[in-house]
Amino acid sequence: MPDRSDTVPALPGEAAPSSRPQDRPKDRKVFIKTYGCQMNVYDSERMSDVLGDMAFSETETPEDADLVILNTCHIREKAAEKVYSELGRLRLLKEERAKAGKETVIGVAGCVAQAEGEEMIRRAPVVDMVFGPQAYHRLPQFLEKAARGERGLVETDFPVEDKFDELPAAKAQKTLARGKTAFLTVQEGCDKFCTFCVVPYTRGAEYSRPVSRIEAEARRLVDAGVREVTLLGQNVNAFHGEGADGKPWSLGRLVTVLADIEGLERIRYTTSHPRDMDDELIQAHGAVEKLMPYLHLPVQSGSDKILEAMNRQHTAESYLRLIERIRKSRPDIALSSDFIVGFPGETEEDFEATLALVREVGYAQAYSFKYSPRPGTPASNEEVQVPEEVKTERLARLQALLNEQQNVFNASCEGRTLPVLFDRKGRKPGQLVGRSPYLQSVHVEAPEEFFGQLVPVKILRGGANSLEGALAASLAAE
Ligand code: SAH
Ligand code: SF4
Ligand code: F3S
Repeated sequence: MPDRSDTVPALPGEAAPSSRPQDRPKDRKVFIKTYGCQMNVYDSERMSDVLGDMAFSETETPEDADLVILNTCHIREKAAEKVYSELGRLRLLKEERAKAGKETVIGVAGCVAQAEGEEMIRRAPVVDMVFGPQAYHRLPQFLEKAARGERGLVETDFPVEDKFDELPAAKAQKTLARGKTAFLTVQEGCDKFCTFCVVPYTRGAEYSRPVSRIEAEARRLVDAGVREVTLLGQNVNAFHGEGADGKPWSLGRLVTVLADIEGLERIRYTTSHPRDMDDELIQAHGAVEKLMPYLHLPVQSGSDKILEAMNRQHTAESYLRLIERIRKSRPDIALSSDFIVGFPGETEEDFEATLALVREVGYAQAYSFKYSPRPGTPASNEEVQVPEEVKTERLARLQALLNEQQNVFNASCEGRTLPVLFDRKGRKPGQLVGRSPYLQSVHVEAPEEFFGQLVPVKILRGGANSLEGALAASLAAE
């Protein structure tokens, strides 16, 4: 399976390792390393599906790979730099393998590929092919060209055809079920153009898949054993895919339809924009039991001046009112967010407004980052950049508050009995790990046959990053 070690921590629905049916001999090996967001995890799995059809099997180490693909992230400078250090290591590896008479093709996919294109090959000549997220269905052609000795292939167009149509669907039944939880991309791209963000440039304009396709993919996943799907999109609640009546359907309506699939127990979605939380979606949180009471709704800042400079199209007050409406619909909803500190022009007062907003909302979980100027984005040209040491100090203060809130939330679960979907084995023998409805990891001593099951668990301890519990049934039997 793709190496996920560098992906965003605590991803919802990280699938547990599982072996896939090897239905025919595979004679070449591919190593895929995935960086960045859940969409990249999903895309890596789809690339692996396409390659599986071309007699490639996946390997866990680049040393024995005939093909190495880095599926990259461009969101912050550090993310992009990681790719170049990895390419440095791969250059040595390629030379080693060449001495032993083995060829290695190196491909770079994802958002750095899309943003840098040919520049990548100039900077890292070890790279044989560079292709953006809209080109994955053309992997077979790229590989044919590479086999003919072509190098320096660059494909970063946004083609008119829908890659989802082109990616083979039938195989998903066998291969996508890598666990009991799965990602399902329903929307891609973004039209919001927040002034700090590269996504509209690397992923292109907003596009929603038709409801019938999504439903069919969800059914295939469920048939293959999946019990929880996380609907993905860079701006997922802007979803407006064509519905059964030929009209655009909202995400709320999509969730309601998917909830009718028998065997599908849980639905999540990420990532949302506050501007696109419509009534239908808010109501779905109250009405659809399978929709989990957890919402990642990034606010980025609590200062209206900064929100405007970021082009977020909402104020701190409108965000707070929105949260109120969501909580009215689903009182126990756990909220999560992303924050950027040190955006150009951010004063101490602006930053304190962010702290005040955090105190008012009370988050269950959150990610926070120092602003990182990205080439080509409007904010990177601002002259008033915040000094690094100020960013570091603000990030520490914000994270202390967010961690405190996370601790409070986790501790508040102690004594409750929560349904947990076991999707991983624990580090300790005899231990299984699963997710609570609020996306917390829950560690439980449980027999292996509980793997993949949704089981009531009594929460005994709420730690900083996870919960510990015991099977409610075994406690009742004592
Ligand atoms: N579509 C989502 C976010 C996608 S990017 C949304 O609208 O919120 C994930 C997170 O990375 C963002 O929410 C933001 O907090 C962070 N991020 C994006 N660009 C950044 C930059 N230039 N510097 C620091 N953090 C950034
Ligand atoms: Fe980036 Fe999200 Fe803003 Fe789109 S809405 S530009 S993905 S931060
Ligand atoms: Fe990174 Fe691209 Fe996702 S920039 S966060 S991999 S959309």
